[in-house]
Amino acid sequence: RYEGMIFDLDGVLTDTARFHYAAWKRLCEEIGCYFDEIINEKLKGIGRMESLNIILNENDIEISDEGKQFLADRKNLYYKEMISKITPMDLLPGVSELFQRLNELGVKKAVASASRNACTVLERLGIIDYFQYIVDTDRIKNGKPDPEIFLNASKGLGIPPKKCIGVEDSQAGIEAIKKAGMYAIGIGKPDTLYKADLVLRDLRDTDRIISILLP
Ligand code: BG6
Ligand code: MG
Repeated sequence: RYEGMIFDLDGVLTDTARFHYAAWKRLCEEIGCYFDEIINEKLKGIGRMESLNIILNENDIEISDEGKQFLADRKNLYYKEMISKITPMDLLPGVSELFQRLNELGVKKAVASASRNACTVLERLGIIDYFQYIVDTDRIKNGKPDPEIFLNASKGLGIPPKKCIGVEDSQAGIEAIKKAGMYAIGIGKPDTLYKADLVLRDLRDTDRIISILLP
């Protein structure tokens, strides 16, 4: 049986993935950069500055480090404006019920998000106290798809990786979970998340998830 579940935040517990998209889109329109859903897919799970680098690369644009910092800060300003309106109503379907059942079963939970805004979002959603461990992104040297963030979460929970299930909506995240030696649940479309052990549309099918946890 599995003893711990490690959740990504954006796009798994709440639909903030669309806010990240909207914030990048707004920035790109302002600076005359091309940006679409295909580029966006590559940014999921990837840190702020690395995401900006991908966008600039796609557009063959080179700018100074100061310029990059300015643009990354600006994107974050837009993003923070969007998340300031989040309430517990913005939890994705199935999340509350799943957490309740995990608590009853004594399954520990952690958050492994690349976002420096993760704690604000968790607080606004009213779920921050559900987690036994939240990874401090500032302490992670290698972002997803490197397994470091999931290995850190497993250590934080005190549960070996092979007894953990990771949940992710990004390709980079699924790769990180698999490299960490965990069971991977993908949230989204099977064609993009083909490396996952199981792909679900959302966390609504609690019985299915529990049957994997406790076979
Ligand atoms: C991840 C998102 O969770 O966090 C990425 O999937 C985002 O899209 C990354 O770039 C970093 O977030 P933030 O809030 O620190 O800019
Ligand atoms: Mg995500």
